[in-house]
Formats: sequence, structure tokens, C-alpha cells
Amino acid sequence: MTAVDSHGAEEPGPYGPPTETAQPTETTPAPRRRIRTLDLIRAKAEGRRWAMLTSYDQYTAAIFEDSGVEALLVGDSAANNVYGYETTLPVTVDELIPLARSVARATTRALVVADLPFGSYEISDEQAVTTAVRFMKEAHVHAVKLEGGRRIASRIEAITAAGIPVMAHIGFTPQAEHNLGGYRVQGRGDAAEALLADARAVAAAGAFAVVMEMVPAELAARVTAELEIPTVGIGAGSDCDAQVLVWQDMAGLRSGPAPRFVKRYADLRSVLSAAVSDYVAEVRSGEFPDPERSFR
Ligand code: KIV
Repeated sequence: MTAVDSHGAEEPGPYGPPTETAQPTETTPAPRRRIRTLDLIRAKAEGRRWAMLTSYDQYTAAIFEDSGVEALLVGDSAANNVYGYETTLPVTVDELIPLARSVARATTRALVVADLPFGSYEISDEQAVTTAVRFMKEAHVHAVKLEGGRRIASRIEAITAAGIPVMAHIGFTPQAEHNLGGYRVQGRGDAAEALLADARAVAAAGAFAVVMEMVPAELAARVTAELEIPTVGIGAGSDCDAQVLVWQDMAGLRSGPAPRFVKRYADLRSVLSAAVSDYVAEVRSGEFPDPERSFR
């Protein structure tokens, strides 16, 4: 499988010129345009995998997009990775919207998805639509994500009926960690049928993709084969249509043990620590700033 090629020409939009519409020729490169949910669904149909990473700020968003990441998730994992909370539960809509806005503003190509945080969609379908609308209007994201299977199918229906694409999230759902008894693999043994039912329910409700977190690889492969919408794995094996990781985990910025499904592609914590230690030492010794960095 190859990565999504999102450089194809797009039909001119009816409401103005936000996308480049010039047709590629032999001498002009293909236009770069925003990836749509339909591109990701088409990628599955054509057997092309795609990558998603979390992002919570403009610099990482631009770097990840330039590196080929097709979808960026402004996850409620900002609770742990930006705000320093112990779980994802305390983070609020008002705390996530500015982060989501910065990611959307810093990108031109990646599809930006924002998590609806705990407490912002549980009460009613109306509450879910109200929250999703806030993310679209105030953060300018392109889709929202919410956790749960059959129990939130009506929320997905209501939000998509309002014209907002929804990414679902089943398996281990961190917002329900107290109910699930902690970080545990979901769908083992007899629980497999319930997970399959959740997957079918969110797809039938209109989700354009579904995240599966900490699900046995074989079961995730079965869901992936059955659904027409893309599955996005995190601890769900290699047969999913896409993968997602928290960027601080995969880049080695976070200290302490990472979940088993995380692969560390870099050791940013060491790189940054070494740079800052050098800076501190040079400030203390008077080596920084040198004459080249001083004014007359
Ligand atoms: O909030 C988040 O980062 C997530 C992903 C890990 C799927 O939900």
C-alpha cells in the first residue's frame, strides 16, 4: 500500500476560491489542497493507508503536514500533554478551541479533526450539535471526534445531519477509563461481538472513519474488512486502514513509560535537554551572548 495522494485536482467550490483548481500539466506541479473526508474513504477503497498524528499548536501542525501526515487530531489528550492534567476528563471546550484554531490556521492540506471533550456531548443530541458547531465556527476544524459506540450513535446522526463530519472512537475510550476499569484492551473473548456491534453502529450512524484503540489485532482486522469507512488504529494492529499516535509519545518528548503500542521514532526529550543545558551553562559562564549577538 502507498500513502494517500491528495494532490489531485478538485472541482471548484461553489462558494469562493479557497482551493487551488489549476489542472496539473507536465510543467506545473499538482495543486496542494485540503484533504477531504471523501479522500480518506477513497483511499480505503483503493487500498492506500494514511497517517494521523495529534497536534496542539501551529509549529507541530505545519511540520507534520509537511512531513506527509494526512489528518491531524487536536485530541483531548491535550489534557495530559498540554495542560498537565492526570486524565483527559478535566479538559474543556474552551481550553481545546484555541489549540484547534492554531492547528487549523497553520495548515493548508491536512484534514483537522477536533475531539469533543468529556461533558460536552453526553447530555443530549442537542448538546453534541451545539459543541460540534462551536468547533467548526470558532476553531475552523474540518471534523469532530467523539468517543463511544452504540450509546452515542444518535449523537453521530445529529452532528452529521448538521453537516459536520464525525470520526468515531471505539474500543478503549479514555474518557470512560473509570467505567472501563483503567487502560485495558477491549473486545477480547466474548466482548468481541459488542465491539463489532459498536463499529457497525457508528458506521450506520454516518461516521466517516472510526478510531479503534487497544483492540486485539485480529478483531480490528475483521472490523476493517467489514466496514466501508476507514479504521484508524491505535494499539489495534497493522491491518487498520490508518494509524494514529500522540505526537509527544512517538517523538519521545514525554518522560516515563509509554503504552506498549507506542513506537518511539525520536528522542526529542534528550535533544531538547542537551540544548537547554548548553544554554544554561553558557549563560552562567558568560559565553552567551557573544559579540556577534550583541549590539554596539
Ligand atoms: O485524544 C487523543 O489523542 C486520541 C487519540 C489517541 C486517538 O483520542
